[in-house]
Amino acid sequence: MTAPTADPRLKGRSVKRIAFSEATIARRVRELGAEITAAYPDGDLLVLGLLKGSFVFLADLVRQIERPLQVDFLVASSYGDAMVSSGKVNLVYDPETKLEGKHILLVEDIVDSGRTLQQLLVLLGKRQPRSLEICALLHKHIATELHHPTKFLGFDAPNEFLVGYGLDHAEDFRHVPYVASLQ
Ligand code: IMP
Ligand code: MG
Repeated sequence: MTAPTADPRLKGRSVKRIAFSEATIARRVRELGAEITAAYPDGDLLVLGLLKGSFVFLADLVRQIERPLQVDFLVASSYGDAMVSSGKVNLVYDPETKLEGKHILLVEDIVDSGRTLQQLLVLLGKRQPRSLEICALLHKHIATELHHPTKFLGFDAPNEFLVGYGLDHAEDFRHVPYVASLQ
């Protein structure tokens, strides 16, 4: 394997710490797939990926779920505190698939404040899904605004800024195959 500090993907930056290696992530994603397979014995399952951060995780995850399912995505735009004090989330891309009567599994890269997910749960909950649950790769456990358990969770994340496996810094590093903090 390429020495991570010399990884050409990193635009000359170097890794401070690899939080989760490729092998560690792959192992956990297999386990999560088995958990999800066992949790949904019947009914239509729609796996809804929150773009862009979830795209790598979602692609690996759905291939480990051994039951019928469909995939769609949504794009949420959040306005920061500087613009709108309520931090309201809008859907920039709304899933085309109907949610009514289906098991909806919302897939997120990382739960930080939890604000985005909380607002999405309220919004999607109005469309009468049969169930609505969250699967997140990472959780910083500092979410004060999320009033719903993360039913399926990859890892507890350290409270530092992480990149890779879908997570970006200013749109860079999403393709890095491990999760790391940078110098
Ligand atoms: P929340 O609404 O505060 O929970 O924000 C969650 C979103 O913030 C995630 O979907 C990520 O896009 C981004 N985010 C939070 N923490 C990190 C991080 O450590 N690295 C990269 N993106 C992060
Ligand atoms: Mg981001």
